[in-house]
Amino acid sequence: MGLRKILTDKDPALHKVCKPVTNFDSKLHKLLDDMAETLAEANGVGLAAPQVGILRRVVIVDVGDEIVELVNPTMLETDGEQVGAEGCLSVPGRYGLVKRPYYAKVRAQDRNGDWFEVEGEEIIARCFCHELDHLDGIVYTEVMDRFLTEEELMGDDE
Ligand code: NI
Repeated sequence: MGLRKILTDKDPALHKVCKPVTNFDSKLHKLLDDMAETLAEANGVGLAAPQVGILRRVVIVDVGDEIVELVNPTMLETDGEQVGAEGCLSVPGRYGLVKRPYYAKVRAQDRNGDWFEVEGEEIIARCFCHELDHLDGIVYTEVMDRFLTEEELMGDDE
């Protein structure tokens, strides 16, 4: 079993720029497997390697019917705008109001080093932006308008 500990944003690892992955080996595969398990256990939508203390450019996103693994991802294209509630497993119990693109297209490598592109809208686009930010040491609280209040959270069906 490979549950990893999720660090909070008080940890310095959450505020560093991550290095590219150069070895697509069993260690990377173990990291990705562990991250998927950790994400499922935490009921999250996305997870970035620095959140489990690994300063490499690796994120995973639950796009609904599968977990997309993004190694060395870059944002290719964004379009539109959405403003909504956003949370982070490293900022437990709180949500912020964050403006993001409505659409996002990402280019990344898979666990074997092959390049591919993936796109998404709404929460998927939001998640791509949020997770890629983590790789540059940016937590959403640094780009949000403000935290949501208790009252706003109570009234939110999410
Ligand atoms: Ni996060």
